[in-house]
Amino acid sequence: MRPSTLLTSTLALTTQAQLLPFLSQPSQTPALAQPANQNPMANPGIQLPPPSEPSDPPPTNGDVILSDILGTQRPITIFAGFTRDISSVLTRLSTASLNTTVLAPLNSAITSLPRKPWEDPRDGPNAYEGQDGEDRAQRNLRRFTEAHVVLASPWEEGVKSETMGGGRVWWERRGEKVVVMPGSVEVERVGGRVANGEVWVMKGVVNYAS
Ligand SMILES: *[C@@H]1O[C@H](CO)[C@@H](O)[C@H](O)[C@H]1NC(C)=O
Repeated sequence: MRPSTLLTSTLALTTQAQLLPFLSQPSQTPALAQPANQNPMANPGIQLPPPSEPSDPPPTNGDVILSDILGTQRPITIFAGFTRDISSVLTRLSTASLNTTVLAPLNSAITSLPRKPWEDPRDGPNAYEGQDGEDRAQRNLRRFTEAHVVLASPWEEGVKSETMGGGRVWWERRGEKVVVMPGSVEVERVGGRVANGEVWVMKGVVNYAS
């Protein structure tokens, strides 16, 4: 896969994932069942199916894990795509017994970077062509993504925690704001809290050049 197609394909994957009815099921099921109950005389002669009884209830929040929810949030779809491309990260976020805080940069934070996340200024010209180039781009993307995966949750203020990439990060309050250090990257909000951790939506990217 060429680096230039990497982003397109992850976005396509993300769109597909969003179409899965996973999170919309609880509200859809009763809504679909309603018209049949409201006015049984509206369609005389037509055998209406009995009101549906959800025999297979959606998982409670306690069963939901990070890999389930990452693709469901539009503002972070680009990063969510990266987490599916990088198998080490996908494995971590799919493991219910290991807690993680995912620092997910907004799409706008990624698209406004001076270079693509899989590009490294230390790589020479034409660095991402051919099989070697693809491998290099994939390694760089892995470094970027792993730098945003904190191996702790809950994650207390001021506690230095390791990332999958081997870096150390912590967070502080600055008045109303919460910033991830080093680099003072502002947290927009906690975008999700599930059984094996949290997704923090970030206004910028954490330093991944190492
Ligand atoms: C994992 O996260 C859950 C939910 O916040 C928490 O109850 C549990 O103590 C955490 N486990 C570890 C080892 O941090």
